[in-house]
Amino acid sequence: MSKQERVNFYKKQIEFEDIIYDKAEESIQGTDNILIREMIQSIALDSKKHASMLNALVSMHTKATPSVAEEVGQEIKDAITEHIQMEAEAIKTYQEYFETLDDEAEKIIVKAILNDEIKHHALLKTIHKMIVDKLTLNVQEFWDMVEEDDEFGYIGYSK
Ligand SMILES: [Fe+2]
Repeated sequence: MSKQERVNFYKKQIEFEDIIYDKAEESIQGTDNILIREMIQSIALDSKKHASMLNALVSMHTKATPSVAEEVGQEIKDAITEHIQMEAEAIKTYQEYFETLDDEAEKIIVKAILNDEIKHHALLKTIHKMIVDKLTLNVQEFWDMVEEDDEFGYIGYSK
């Protein structure tokens, strides 16, 4: 695929993610079921996230972007370190809180938040390592490292 074809592909997917977002938002307008509404809304927000990631991919092809390792200053490294600590704190808080719950619908929502935090933490730790150790990882190495950094159990996180 040519560079232009890839850019076109990403742009097409951005439009599609936006449509998914709108449809999802529309579909929950009439519901009073809080569990259904929040779960569908969180999926819709992931569509927004995907659109943002696709935008980054468009930029990658259309602008001169420096490699991750080269351009990150100390300030950003420190901010990421702080972010990692905050995610870890959130994980502990939700984990402990989850244990106090009895209501299944409530448990589903809190667990979904917890799962996100666990994923954020593992991803951030790997990103931090890439920046600090100036690692250039391929896709397999990246996800292997996310799993290795998985002190909170990312691999089996969905249960
Ligand atoms: Fe988070």
